[in-house]
Amino acid sequence: MTDDDFEKIDNIIKNYDGREGFLIQLLLDIQSELHWIPKQAIKEISMRTGVPVSQIFRVASFYKAMSLSPVGRHKVSVCMGTACQIRGAQRLLDVARSRLGINPGETTTDRRFTLNRVNCLGCCAIGPVMVADENYHGRVDSRRIEKVLDQLAAD
Ligand code: FES
Repeated sequence: MTDDDFEKIDNIIKNYDGREGFLIQLLLDIQSELHWIPKQAIKEISMRTGVPVSQIFRVASFYKAMSLSPVGRHKVSVCMGTACQIRGAQRLLDVARSRLGINPGETTTDRRFTLNRVNCLGCCAIGPVMVADENYHGRVDSRRIEKVLDQLAAD
């Protein structure tokens, strides 16, 4: 975590000072600012609010909207379902891995990208399929995935 991250966490905790029933909203605010909830944030919340670490951890792990590992600003998923694999999904995943320098399930150190492999997205007819943030791309080839990654990198 950077000093900037600590400052953001500090300000968010201050916003909830003395409020009751704050935990979920506080965690959502941290998720929204940092795109994940670091362990240090959980310890800090516990120290300053008296809520046990185990309770904060339980809440943060329960909600899908919260992540306990870093998530990039851009999420790139390559479908590795059978139909997409037959149409070259492995090559797309290799291009994304090489281009981003990470493996599926990882986030770049600058936290710009998270790469995932997913199973069938339900649109096999347009495979191979990738999802960049919320946008589906069908019949993707190596050039297309490079172009999509370029556009995201420029954002
Ligand atoms: S296998 Fe990729 S969308 Fe179905």
